[in-house]
Amino acid sequence: MKAVAVQAFGGPEGLAVIDLPAPEPAEGQVLIATEAIGVGGVDAVIRSGALAAYGFRDGHILGGEIAGTVTATGPGVDPDWAGQRVWAFTGVGGGYAEQAVAPAETLVPLPSATSAADAVTLGSSGAVAHFGLRHAHFAPGESVLVRGAAGGIGIMAVQLAARAGAGAVAVTTSSPERADRLRELGATRVLDRAGEGTADTYDVILDVVAGPGLPSFFAKLSPNGRLVAVGAVAGDPPSDFGKHLFAAFQKSLSFATFSANTVPQADRRAVTADLFAAANRGELTSVVHEVLPLEQAVLAHRKMHAGEVFGRIVLTPAKS
Ligand SMILES: NC(=O)c1ccc[n+]([C@@H]2O[C@H](COP(=O)([O-])OP(=O)(O)OC[C@H]3O[C@@H](n4cnc5c(N)ncnc54)[C@H](OP(=O)(O)O)[C@@H]3O)[C@@H](O)[C@H]2O)c1
Repeated sequence: MKAVAVQAFGGPEGLAVIDLPAPEPAEGQVLIATEAIGVGGVDAVIRSGALAAYGFRDGHILGGEIAGTVTATGPGVDPDWAGQRVWAFTGVGGGYAEQAVAPAETLVPLPSATSAADAVTLGSSGAVAHFGLRHAHFAPGESVLVRGAAGGIGIMAVQLAARAGAGAVAVTTSSPERADRLRELGATRVLDRAGEGTADTYDVILDVVAGPGLPSFFAKLSPNGRLVAVGAVAGDPPSDFGKHLFAAFQKSLSFATFSANTVPQADRRAVTADLFAAANRGELTSVVHEVLPLEQAVLAHRKMHAGEVFGRIVLTPAKS
């Protein structure tokens, strides 16, 4: 089968299409013939080499989110999964391939009305946005700022906050065109990347960006406001970022990180299935930036690197 592996950590050119045998599903796993593969911001972070400390090695196959048909089940897995169209989460790799293994506990059956491309656009990003808002104790009527709103997670956070009755949904983004698209998805206020634009403050900030700019956003929290970092596309915040919280001691602010890894699989599956159903009812929009062949993973990563992507790039393997 064809797969895309990291031959050299760094830029997109370090990715290469390779031939290798299909993996065997181990205990608790299924084998999936992929129909669509989500290209996530986390894939770019792994490819860059920034997560070398986590043990990623040359030859690593990127990709955590896939949709396709189960073709084999490993020991201990209900054989009835075979033949079903599913969404699956492979973890931190293995997804950029014609066939991929995934833990059976992550599987969500695909409704017939849900395309594989929509599934990998809504699934993981939507769950992170949903549980990130929950982690921030977001309540209807509260105001929300989504920092880094033009990516997969941000677009879902904007829609979920608006749908849940947020009092205001502000976003940071880098261009007027993106601002218009985010307004169509539910944003009511638009700030630039630095957070300039209005003097308003927010009950909740969902932050996909982190990096050097994070501390300045504490000033945008209302009293009792909560900033939850769900991503770090601009890298870690400065090591002294906590002093900005203490400088605003009398506002009783909170900061937290959030990883979907802390959410039980059953809850993730239930929310992912709800997201697919909501999209099929027309209540959520799946924003697919572009669908590219699996072999063009380098191009997909170049586009991400250039900051061109609004929503999700999806890879599709050649039809066998
Ligand atoms: N918490 C979890 O469980 C979880 C799960 C999966 C992934 N993640 C994390 O989520 C992040 C990826 O999320 P994503 O795919 O939604 O993001 P993304 O598409 O990579 O980036 C989101 C947006 O951030 C803006 N941005 C990019 N670089 C920036 C910078 N240097 N300063 C300010 N804004 C910048 C861009 O929009 P504009 O150009 O419009 O500003 C971009 O569209 C990664 O850090 C990944 O590790 C977390």
